[in-house]
Amino acid sequence: MGHLILSGVSKSFGSAEVIKPTDLEIVDGEFTVFVGPSGCGKSTMLRMIAGLEEITSGTIEIDGKVVNNLAPVKRGISMVFQSYALYPHMSVYENIAFPLRVAREKQPEVDRLVNRAAEVLKLTDRLKHRPGELSGGQRQRVAIGRAIVREPSVFLFDEPLSNLDAALRAEMRVELSRLHSKLGNTMIYVTHDQIEAMTMADKIVVLRDGRIEQVGSPLELYHKPNNRFVAGFIGNPNMNFLPVTCKSADPEGVRVTFADGSEAVVAVDCGDARPGDKLELGIRPDALRIGGDDAAGLKLVPEVVERLGNQTVIYAIAPDGTPLCVVGDGFAEVRPGQQVAASFAPADAHLFGKDGAAFARNFDLSRLDRLA
Ligand SMILES: Nc1ncnc2c1ncn2[C@@H]1O[C@H](COP(=O)(O)OP(=O)(O)OP(=O)(O)O)[C@@H](O)[C@H]1O
Ligand SMILES: [Mg+2]
Repeated sequence: MGHLILSGVSKSFGSAEVIKPTDLEIVDGEFTVFVGPSGCGKSTMLRMIAGLEEITSGTIEIDGKVVNNLAPVKRGISMVFQSYALYPHMSVYENIAFPLRVAREKQPEVDRLVNRAAEVLKLTDRLKHRPGELSGGQRQRVAIGRAIVREPSVFLFDEPLSNLDAALRAEMRVELSRLHSKLGNTMIYVTHDQIEAMTMADKIVVLRDGRIEQVGSPLELYHKPNNRFVAGFIGNPNMNFLPVTCKSADPEGVRVTFADGSEAVVAVDCGDARPGDKLELGIRPDALRIGGDDAAGLKLVPEVVERLGNQTVIYAIAPDGTPLCVVGDGFAEVRPGQQVAASFAPADAHLFGKDGAAFARNFDLSRLDRLA
């Protein structure tokens, strides 16, 4: 079990409303990731769910029961923080067993639960060691083990991997995904790393300034962002944005003019766009093609060219001075300072109007269902 419903949940510190009234449902067994820039309210949301922070209004329901006034230990929740605070003088075994000792669990049961956690987390041969004798990733796994043994219905993680180096983070990411498929618990994971969000989540919740911007599967958010903020946040390297003017609009697409007078078509539902409207075009770095026969499009001047072997990352400047990133293949014919033309398919571009709202794309999400 582990079904969460947040209804109208808000949080104020004094006069500052850091979480605006929020509705959110997390179904049993789902791996949900809260992602967003620093200070957007991710930890506060998690702490309210855990019961470590009182909510200002609304209700939080876990498995059909309102838990607003329930103490953290009674909520069936385990939380793992960024700083994993192990007891240095205790063995790995005792660190993992700690919550069971507090709950005065009988030794055979402690043994069973600790050994199971150690097995899942590949710590069996480390149980007699002290935390000081472990690598960063192993220590993080001990902290997770301590959370697992309580057999919670919901796991909460607040940036648990941010203290680790890049290689270990990537390794732990895979291990956490594996752990989730093994245990099947509901997991809520906070990060500001959009790659962690994309790779681990069943469902991503994008937060900004205490408000939910969009909720959806990783690929839904990637292909159909609701607005410019989500479009710019999800995807690496980030989406490029260029100011454009609407030239003509019809239901199959919008023809736009760039600052230098060149034109392109964007395959989106034109909505209420009118000729002359100032809009913003979004195009992902890997959707831009350098050169080729259809290279009538954007004239770019590369400034920095990074050759990674399998791909080339090009940081360039558009004629109006907008910086653009292009990801080409490993043999892309580009040199710093030498102008190239870049083009894109109408179906690959995004268009944003007033307040950054996205025009509906003609992108068939059911194509992605087969991948689920
Ligand atoms: N105890 C508190 N008193 C006053 N303001 C607070 C308190 N805790 C958090 N805030 C404010 O609430 C907002 C959200 O903070 P929160 O810690 O939830 O952000 P976050 O998304 O987790 O950020 P980060 O990625 O930096 O951890 C911030 O503006 C923060 O300053
Ligand atoms: Mg935080």
